[in-house]
Amino acid sequence: MNFDLKALNLAGAAAEKCDALVLLVPDAFKPGKDALSQCVAQARKAGDLDNGAGKQLALYQPAGVAARRVLLLGAGTASAKEVRTALTAAASTLKATGCKRAVVCLSALPDAAAVTAAAVQTLADISYVYTATKPEAKALAWTRTTVAVPDKAAAAPTFALGEALASGVGMAREWANRPANHATPTMLAAAAKALAKHGGIQCKVHGPKEVAKLGMGAFMAVAQGSAQPLQFIELHYNGAAKSQAPVVLVGKGITFDTGGISLKPAAGMDEMKFDMGGAASVLGVFRALAELRPAINVVGLIPACENMPDGTAVKPGDVVTSMSGQTIEILNTDAEGRLVLCDALTYAARFKPAALVDVATLTGACVIALGGIRSGMYATSDALADALQKAGDAAQDLCWRMPLDDDYAEGLKTTFADVANVAGRAAGSVTAAKFLQRFVGDIPWAHLDIAGTAWKEGAAKGGTGRPVGLLVHYLLGQVATAAKTAKPVKAKAPQAVVADKVVKSAKPVKAAKAVKTVKAVKVAQPAAASDTAPTGKAALTPVEAARD
Ligand code: BES
Ligand code: MN
Ligand code: ZN
Repeated sequence: MNFDLKALNLAGAAAEKCDALVLLVPDAFKPGKDALSQCVAQARKAGDLDNGAGKQLALYQPAGVAARRVLLLGAGTASAKEVRTALTAAASTLKATGCKRAVVCLSALPDAAAVTAAAVQTLADISYVYTATKPEAKALAWTRTTVAVPDKAAAAPTFALGEALASGVGMAREWANRPANHATPTMLAAAAKALAKHGGIQCKVHGPKEVAKLGMGAFMAVAQGSAQPLQFIELHYNGAAKSQAPVVLVGKGITFDTGGISLKPAAGMDEMKFDMGGAASVLGVFRALAELRPAINVVGLIPACENMPDGTAVKPGDVVTSMSGQTIEILNTDAEGRLVLCDALTYAARFKPAALVDVATLTGACVIALGGIRSGMYATSDALADALQKAGDAAQDLCWRMPLDDDYAEGLKTTFADVANVAGRAAGSVTAAKFLQRFVGDIPWAHLDIAGTAWKEGAAKGGTGRPVGLLVHYLLGQVATAAKTAKPVKAKAPQAVVADKVVKSAKPVKAAKAVKTVKAVKVAQPAAASDTAPTGKAALTPVEAARD
């Protein structure tokens, strides 16, 4: 989707030629004298347009309006959440065949700038079409959207934030959706390398030999049953002085989880292609950072491999030595996420992180506990927990803090190693977190169990791109925190947006630049690898990336 931002009042919006004009109408709307206001006033009077987010009335070529189709769309209280609800309800109008260019008018809302990011993100969300392995899936005719606001300068930073989040979330969704044979550890590594074509990002990939040298015995044990070589992906975003401690993000990158020798049941096993949702969200965060260029340092670590049953696979009861030196009895090979993560967490210590956050589709138990609404969040630091919770609220990408009492670790005790990789069935998400905690030392650490939130089941099955929104909001919040605690640094890149507080002078790196870079290396793509990111930007295919 190509977005642009335009200053238009309601009269201006009425004069704008386009295929579809969507006017968001808050419950508290006071109609003026313009044509659109008159439509709303008449519709309300006749009882044809109710209050409430998502309520709608479609009009065709109404008098005094240049757009062919007009959708009066209830925006309720005009909160970011209700704007999301409303625009999601407008999806079918916008996706109709005749609609190529839409104008989405926020000018009737009390604070358009406050909801511009949410609006852009929602529009990008609803226009996403998966085509990577289904080339005949119709890309939408709707490719251009003008977001109309009363004050362009006020909305520009949140508009840029929305665009960057749309790119990041889109990338995470796309990679999560790809089948495991189109998203192998090597392909993920190639995608990460391709991200490094954007300024400010570096990528290093450690292959099996390097990982063995690092002594990552737990990670290697998971990968040993697979024909696909493991990859340990290391991303760096440097937006601040080297002396500033980075936030380290770790994403679980199991590109397919069969359970290993502790094999999962057949029904629904295909969904385990999403088991790299944590990795996909780390990639998505870096994609957004490339556009926003905030003044912080971020390291991304992705242990990527498959979990397969095989003659060479790790067996229940095997004891392996992790990079930390702790021995682990692998009682259940299906509890593999914590095994790849624990070595990445140990590795993370070398960056002396200001905070360490891992993201993983870790436990079915978390799906039972919290469903698809909130991610499970565990933290050893109240300040970090608070920041993540608030970031989730601001991004409408919610999480809920879970306990880490030491008593929960009892079940991980075993006669045969320092720790077992599973405890009993009770509190399965908590005991997984307790396992991970053994590997973080005293670094402020948080763990996000996204097993329920990273994808949707059912008819609309697919990746959600969560928790890219939460993480990006959190990181942008760290710009302010870092600035308060560190000496001022001459950051090359301008600081773009500080969470919901906006830095007016922000000048985010335009996505167009990224597209140019990509085009320069574009090669013929096999249909299966086409990676037009759903936002229409930053399309980096594994094939392109592999040419690095
Ligand atoms: N990838 C799964 C967790 C998962 C399950 C994510 C369902 C999304 C939906 C993970 O590797 C796993 O298999 N966990 C086991 C742990 C158990 C063996 C202690 C689980 O949750 O059943
Ligand atoms: Mn598993
Ligand atoms: Zn798994």
